Amino acid sequence: MHHIASRVVEEPPMTIRDGGIFQNSVNEQLDDLRKKAGEGTDWLKGFESRERERLDIPSLKVKQNRQFGFFIEVTKSHLDKIPEEYRRRQTMTNAERFTTEDLKEWEEVILTADDRAKALEHELFLELRQEVASQAAKLSELGRKIASADVLSAFANHARKHSWNRPDIKHDSTMEIVAGRHPVLEGDGRFVPNGISFDKRRKFLLLTGPNMGGKSTYLRQTALITILAQAGSFVPAEKAKIGIVDRVFTRVGAHDDLRRGRSTFMMEMIEVAHILRRATPRSLILLDEVGRGTSTFDGLAIAWSVTEDISTRVGARTLFATHYHQLVGLADEIEGLVNIHVQVADVKGEIRFLHTVADGPCDDSYGVQVAALAGLPIAVVERARDLLIFLEGQAQGARAGSDGTPDSRVSGQSSLYGWMLPSGEKPAKPNQPISNQEPTKEIVVQEDPVLREIAERLESLDPDTLTPREALEALYAMRAALNNTLDGKHLEE
Ligand SMILES: Nc1ncnc2c1ncn2[C@@H]1O[C@H](COP(=O)(O)OP(=O)(O)O)[C@@H](O)[C@H]1O
Ligand SMILES: [Mg+2]
Repeated sequence: MHHIASRVVEEPPMTIRDGGIFQNSVNEQLDDLRKKAGEGTDWLKGFESRERERLDIPSLKVKQNRQFGFFIEVTKSHLDKIPEEYRRRQTMTNAERFTTEDLKEWEEVILTADDRAKALEHELFLELRQEVASQAAKLSELGRKIASADVLSAFANHARKHSWNRPDIKHDSTMEIVAGRHPVLEGDGRFVPNGISFDKRRKFLLLTGPNMGGKSTYLRQTALITILAQAGSFVPAEKAKIGIVDRVFTRVGAHDDLRRGRSTFMMEMIEVAHILRRATPRSLILLDEVGRGTSTFDGLAIAWSVTEDISTRVGARTLFATHYHQLVGLADEIEGLVNIHVQVADVKGEIRFLHTVADGPCDDSYGVQVAALAGLPIAVVERARDLLIFLEGQAQGARAGSDGTPDSRVSGQSSLYGWMLPSGEKPAKPNQPISNQEPTKEIVVQEDPVLREIAERLESLDPDTLTPREALEALYAMRAALNNTLDGKHLEE
């Protein structure tokens, strides 16, 4: 493609019909035309100064406009010096405009040469374009290669600059990161490195610790290190062994999500449902505060059962940051589930965030201390402390590992379905994994046209390809259909 570089000027114009595209010496004819146009321009300059001198009119000017082409302009005070070969073209307030035979001739030369040069450049451009098009496949291949080189050299530069190390890629389901950092935050000098390890006995890491402790950051850095490693980059860690993951699933809420209330919880559940359906034992799952979008016990119950399902059925490497400290007892019941926590130092009742991650549960939520740190009035903080002790006493039963926790169900044997099914009917297909359940169309009352329509809509949906937004819209549409008929019935009654 040196054709482009060697023929086209450094900064070509935006349009292809006004010339100025090609360098000199690319095309002889073009050079000739340009030379002629150039000679014409030179002649014009010389003509102007010659005439000024010859006629003794210092203010004489040669100008050009669209309407008359080139002309000589002489102010009225010098009109008596005009020679007879000057022909009048136009009268202005203070000046007269003239032309001569010579000027006409040169004008012709300049304008024709210029026009022809432009037309020729246009033609040459079309030829060049054709030539380039015929090489399109090679060009895009070249583009791909340049892109790879670009990415790899960026990886290399960054790795050298920030002391990243080469990860060891494994074909099992382990992960061992020593002194890992968050690639974006590590630069600020105060970042505290943390390791992580997944193996047969550590598959599900339940991460507890106070707000602002660094849980979300820890989740993100684990995902980023994994992705960087699999993209072929060095990683921000002293050492990293990464068992290849088939996918990284995340359920990480943005802060502004919290404002949108209920539909956010719906989104959260749609994403969690997607994860439970799609994750495999080779996946990496990151859950940040799942269940936060709903009431405490709803949220806790969902977080709890999601934890059970992932650790017993899915078996993916999972990092679950949660403020539900009640879940820490699950470590005694579920193999492979291990508690880890972000550490804080308690300095005379005030907490300091250490941002280090260690094994074991963090039993205290520190919420009250964080509130104190934020400057809540002392009286309010003290009262909250008392209430906390009271509430914790009340909720003793709501802890994983305590007596009275219901046993896990065999999937399909759920009371939910009993509630949805007409009485007497047995739930369909017990023992099926969740992802294989048939739509439960048995529950539809066949005679009701609205329910039938909704059932049809449901059946025509493919939940696995819907975006959360589409799913919500479908839901709203179905509810609207239902509401309309209900309203209609009220009116009829
Ligand atoms: N390892 C770390 N070293 C230094 N600062 C950290 C580290 N992890 C998190 N932080 C900082 O602490 C604050 C809270 O982090 P975040 O991950 O949002 O906490 P959490 O999710 O526990 O509420 C952020 O400002 C973050 O930059
Ligand atoms: Mg967080």
